[in-house]
Amino acid sequence: MSPVAVVTGAASGIGRATAVWLARDGYQVAMLDLDTAGLIETLRQVEDVGGKAHRFTVDLCDPLAVGSVTREIAVTVGAPDVLVNVAGVGVAATVLETSDEDWSRVLAVNLTGPFLTTRATLPLMLDRGSGVIVNVASVGGLVGLARRAAYCASKAGLIGLTKAIAVDHARQGIRCVAICPGTVETEWIGKILANAPDPAAAREAMAARQLDGRMGTPDEIAAMVSFVAGPEGRFVNGTALVVDGGMTAA
Ligand SMILES: NC(=O)c1ccc[n+]([C@@H]2O[C@H](COP(=O)([O-])OP(=O)(O)OC[C@H]3O[C@@H](n4cnc5c(N)ncnc54)[C@H](O)[C@@H]3O)[C@@H](O)[C@H]2O)c1
Repeated sequence: MSPVAVVTGAASGIGRATAVWLARDGYQVAMLDLDTAGLIETLRQVEDVGGKAHRFTVDLCDPLAVGSVTREIAVTVGAPDVLVNVAGVGVAATVLETSDEDWSRVLAVNLTGPFLTTRATLPLMLDRGSGVIVNVASVGGLVGLARRAAYCASKAGLIGLTKAIAVDHARQGIRCVAICPGTVETEWIGKILANAPDPAAAREAMAARQLDGRMGTPDEIAAMVSFVAGPEGRFVNGTALVVDGGMTAA
């Protein structure tokens, strides 16, 4: 039987690249997202590389939906060996510019979502005495980013949640690790650039944040997820791995 990986946010960007990469590694991938059309495209890409995936349209902020989709995955695909929380949203705003709605939405998707998926999945991992949870956080969880107040708070919270899960469950065979990407060229960044007054200048500024003057690729994050989730990553636990092209070194 192939191992099972659950990947959230799999309809786009880093989540899509992670689903395809883990499928190539030999996992059966259960892909979760709100965006059904995007999931269908990821499924096509998984099948193109000869992999196996299953798609589930779900709002990860809904506790009942997360519980029921997790039970469905356990029955139809198998108990998860790996859970990768990738789904996320952002709002460009200082504290003073952040509405109650935006604050709640960013915290709900970026922090409550991983809490809900972990709470639903952990018992299945504990039953078998092994499992790896990878949380895609951000450099914004480690340093302050301009006009990203709710986003930075949510990602710092996710790093804290990661460490707490590792501390509580390491002796039961569970590892939990956060990955903190720098700027990665995805659909998300594409939308930010498209809405900028000068998209070319905005692109240059985003690329310049990394020491080598380019944005990362979704595959460069997926490769790290694959390493952490796999047997070579077995000594990595309860930490935040920075994959940012040196963005936070300066
Ligand atoms: N792109 C970057 O530069 C960058 C940098 C650091 C961290 N990250 C993190 O990586 C993750 C993925 O980012 P991306 O750039 O690939 O974004 P993306 O917008 O391309 O993909 C995010 C996915 O999450 C899904 N999603 C959002 N809310 C959801 C919900 N409530 N339920 C189910 N699915 C939901 C979206 O439908 C989308 O498919 C995010 O957590 C983001 O914070 C991205």
